[in-house]
Amino acid sequence: MLSTPGPITVPKFVGMKAAGSKIAMLTAYDFPTAALVDSAGVEGILVGDSVAMVVQGHSTTLPVTLDQMIYHAEMVGRAVRHALVVVDMPFPTYHLGIHRAIEAAGRILKETRCQAVKLEGGADQAEVIAALVSAGIPVMAHCGLRPQSVHQLGGYGVQRDRQRLMTDAAAAQEAGAFACVLECIPADIARDITASLRIPTIGIGAGPDCDGQVLVLHDLLGLTAGRVPRHVKAYADQQQQFVAAVAQYRDEVRNGAFPGPDQTFH
Ligand code: KIV
Repeated sequence: MLSTPGPITVPKFVGMKAAGSKIAMLTAYDFPTAALVDSAGVEGILVGDSVAMVVQGHSTTLPVTLDQMIYHAEMVGRAVRHALVVVDMPFPTYHLGIHRAIEAAGRILKETRCQAVKLEGGADQAEVIAALVSAGIPVMAHCGLRPQSVHQLGGYGVQRDRQRLMTDAAAAQEAGAFACVLECIPADIARDITASLRIPTIGIGAGPDCDGQVLVLHDLLGLTAGRVPRHVKAYADQQQQFVAAVAQYRDEVRNGAFPGPDQTFH
């Protein structure tokens, strides 16, 4: 473990902003990867609805269901000992009224060992955020690019409406959100939002001045096929390593080198 001992609670996560400690978050969707990400010492793990794209192979995050999110979150929750685990509320579970939002978020907390939910929205979701928070459910807001609104936005472009972004982040904080993801917005707007809020901002494509950063694990590991967005930094080329290992196995099966004496019982 590289980071502080003891599990990261919501108050500890929020307190990192006042302490001036940057917050590192990553996505994870299953038991073994969540255990590895957790053992590397990140403070937050997001069971993102990006699972729809990077694991299920869809072209948007829209198809993933609440039951599927719970399935993944349950595996992640079982693996994690240290990080705060946040689970995305899938589309449209929080657009159907406050009671259905509480029901959906309540299932996530009851059926997984995860501690918080994330939903896309700011001022437009203030009522839902406040209702979840008053039910004791910690909420991370998500402003800027909202991938669940891809069809309305017409793509995954950078969001530049400064006034709307400032208003959304402030409204999320006032409604009781404990943190706010800022996705794909200019760095100067993210810096100003971060300075104006008491709660931590977690950036993805929002420049270096956010209180923390989040990336999709498959992008960080170089496992994502094809072009990745500009804000991604691949810290490894596991796609190449993965294919090379499987190809070597295939060759050794063909030429009889596997199984060798070490893998053979007598
Ligand atoms: O689903 C996800 O992975 C996310 C991050 C990109 C913030 O929402």
